[in-house]
Amino acid sequence: MRRPFIVGNWKMNKTASEAAAFIRDLRERLPASPNADVVLAPPFTALESARSALGPSSWISLGAQNVHWEAQGAFTGEVSAPMLRDLGCRYVIVGHSERRTLFCERDEDIRKKIRAALMHGLSPILCVGESLAEREAGQTESVITTQLTGSLAGLTTENLATVTIAYEPVWAIGTGRAATTEQAVAVHRSIRLFVETGWDSQTASTIRILYGGSVTPQNIESLLAPDAIDGALVGGACLNLDSFATIVRIAQTQRA
Ligand code: PGA
Repeated sequence: MRRPFIVGNWKMNKTASEAAAFIRDLRERLPASPNADVVLAPPFTALESARSALGPSSWISLGAQNVHWEAQGAFTGEVSAPMLRDLGCRYVIVGHSERRTLFCERDEDIRKKIRAALMHGLSPILCVGESLAEREAGQTESVITTQLTGSLAGLTTENLATVTIAYEPVWAIGTGRAATTEQAVAVHRSIRLFVETGWDSQTASTIRILYGGSVTPQNIESLLAPDAIDGALVGGACLNLDSFATIVRIAQTQRA
């Protein structure tokens, strides 16, 4: 049984002090539960204050939104995996569509980032997803297969055990137009099949596959109903205390 997994991607929102205040309130609203994993991914600048607001023994984990593939060196403006580990991060989001489209990240870059994350003890959350034009041209599966192949090439089953995949259709991100549960399930199934074919059935049955794109307290229950969807990568709705707390609570109870 895969544990439900909710990740809050804050994107470029909240200062360090806003993050601390938000997390203090969130902690009061969320019952610790063994039934779901929760990760908050604030901007780099808020990681330190987020960590202290969570406290040393929090059941909520910290994640980063990006990472460079080198451990250190002359890479102005970049942040490395050892730096993130040292700040208490356990997870890192890689290959988000905003990074792909606005910052020209390619599958090859994403592959190097995943390797760096794994080498330094961070669990990567790999985002894949098609654009609206690609979906309308019937290319959803081939686009996702290309992204998965390019970013996961060469990883072992042991590596895959700490990877999470997030299916995030680009047309659903920040648009208020989430994929239907059926659309998400179809892609999740093909991702699981890709893992089974490339690695093995044990890996395919344990890897967690999240859905992301306009997840709200209103649609989370339907999205989590099928076994194929293990959780959500939440953007806009994770910035609001009530919305995010509701999403987490539904994930905590739905599969309990
Ligand atoms: P959204 O963003 O929930 O605001 O659509 C999701 C994401 O980009 O991860």
